[in-house]
Amino acid sequence: MDLLIPADRIAQRINEIAGRIQCDYSGRPVVVVGVLTGCLVFLSDLVRRIDLPLRIHLIQASSYRGETTTPGQLELRLDGLPDLLGRDVLVIDDILDTGQTLHRIITELHRRGPTTLRVAVLLRKSGRQAVALEPDYVGFEIPDAFVVGYGLDYNDEYRHLPHIAVLHPSEH
Ligand code: IMP
Ligand code: MG
Repeated sequence: MDLLIPADRIAQRINEIAGRIQCDYSGRPVVVVGVLTGCLVFLSDLVRRIDLPLRIHLIQASSYRGETTTPGQLELRLDGLPDLLGRDVLVIDDILDTGQTLHRIITELHRRGPTTLRVAVLLRKSGRQAVALEPDYVGFEIPDAFVVGYGLDYNDEYRHLPHIAVLHPSEH
């Protein structure tokens, strides 16, 4: 595995994003919707740096990658979300790859009538997006490689790493 983004750079960038979020919402309450399981570490570090009235809800998206690194059939579980009508909603996910997952989520959440719907992702993979989707907050642009750590997994491993690393095909 090759180190791509060390922990201290992630922390620094999260501070910057939190500052921007705090400015952009200027005191309005935010409903954070985190996309499990990848959002876990990013979300918990980010929300602790945001000084706004804030509620956190979690939804589940799985694309059945298992022991592969290519996306499969997407399954979404949105049950348990509160009423989003008239709310300022901020979706938090780990990575924008093809965009399939976030596109589906945004479409579903839009139907629930939020006043604003923004997206924050820690990583965006260059040259991979298959749908038009411009996240409002992006931590880092990364090359088209399979990455793990800081919430991102390979077959459910490595999520706990404090940094982002590239997992090479021979290591899969
Ligand atoms: P998308 O729908 O193709 O944008 O990707 C959806 C999900 O695939 C992301 O939220 C991640 O959970 C996972 N994913 C995409 N690229 C990577 C990667 O490089 N490492 C680990 N997970 C990834
Ligand atoms: Mg994910």
